[in-house]
Amino acid sequence: MAKPKKLYVEGKDYFLWPYEEQTQMKHKVVTDYFKIWATKLGQHHIAYFFDCFGGCGAYLEKETIHYGSPFLAAKVATDLKESLDRKTEIIVTEREKENYENLLKVKDDISKELTVVPRIGNMSFEDYMQLDWTIRTYKNPNSPVFFFIDPFGYSLNFSDIKDIMRYQRNEMVINFMYDYISRFINTDDNPKLEETYDQFFGCGEWRDARNLSGDEREKKLVDIYKRQLKKSAKFVFPYKLSFPDRDRTYYYLFHATNNIGGCSIMKSVFASWNYGRVEYLGRKGDELTLFDLKEFKIGDIKSTLISKYAGKQMSFTEIVEDIIDDTLFIETDIRTAIKEMREEGTVKTMRVTSKTDRGLAGDDMVSFNQK
Ligand SMILES: C[S@@+](CC[C@H](N)C(=O)[O-])C[C@H]1O[C@@H](n2cnc3c(N)ncnc32)[C@H](O)[C@@H]1O
Repeated sequence: MAKPKKLYVEGKDYFLWPYEEQTQMKHKVVTDYFKIWATKLGQHHIAYFFDCFGGCGAYLEKETIHYGSPFLAAKVATDLKESLDRKTEIIVTEREKENYENLLKVKDDISKELTVVPRIGNMSFEDYMQLDWTIRTYKNPNSPVFFFIDPFGYSLNFSDIKDIMRYQRNEMVINFMYDYISRFINTDDNPKLEETYDQFFGCGEWRDARNLSGDEREKKLVDIYKRQLKKSAKFVFPYKLSFPDRDRTYYYLFHATNNIGGCSIMKSVFASWNYGRVEYLGRKGDELTLFDLKEFKIGDIKSTLISKYAGKQMSFTEIVEDIIDDTLFIETDIRTAIKEMREEGTVKTMRVTSKTDRGLAGDDMVSFNQK
């Protein structure tokens, strides 16, 4: 992948990268979610943000400087420390010396604003994952780790990430560079490239996508990666980010968590920045379509629930767990749909968790009528 252009601002001794719109979206979603995650998990123990592909630390949009993920996370951690006494640490690895040195300059420039200052190392993610300290930390139930894995391209090795989610409280957001992955997948019998793909996916099934095109290829590759991650994570949801100005997928952010609440909250966070959608459609997404109307979404959820669960009885949590990472639905809409079905008489509910008959949560039971 071509390196981003270096930009300069008078009075700053570091360089900056252009702040593309989909990067802005990535930052909004990851920092908002990290804030919620760290508020919960940093209460009694240190919650770690491992920023494994640190970047150069700063971006420029018109005349405005924006900070990269290590410093956005550090700002969240600083706010949480000051307002709620939460304990968080930000650990950053960056392989390229030039970017690493730039990160240190950005850090010097803003460290007076931070009470949680990122610790930055000039190391590859691969080497970092072999360190005793890293392994001990992410395996320790008392030190939950949020991994932000944001490489350029597809050089990631699945074996480096496959064990992270075996530990209950860890979470990951991985940038799955679909555009590049798809573009070079016809490897023309280049054994080196084939090996890179085998390592990236952790299996050889990606070869089946070579004969597919368009949406079919996209779905196949995303499904394979999701299935691989689901071998160790309970919930995995891929968020699609398109190019801002083209009707084409740029990359996916895969969120992996073992916590139903985590999966549900991330969906809500993403939707809150994207007109209720769990995908970023670029500028095209500014136009609302019929499918975005609340009534349409709720109707869609109702028909899915009926076709999946007619005649069954299950708790609200079981329903959400069953569909949260398989559909585009968010939890609040699922709740609204079931409440409407209750009014319409197509389901009955029995209160267990909710305090009043109007509520619907947790262990409340839902019985679906026969079709
Ligand atoms: C997309 S940028 C990261 C942007 C950053 N996460 C942000 O949002 O501000 C990817 C970075 O990963 C670095 N990188 C590439 N391969 C790496 C590796 N194996 N280990 C660590 N860093 C790597 C690149 O030099 C680049 O700075």
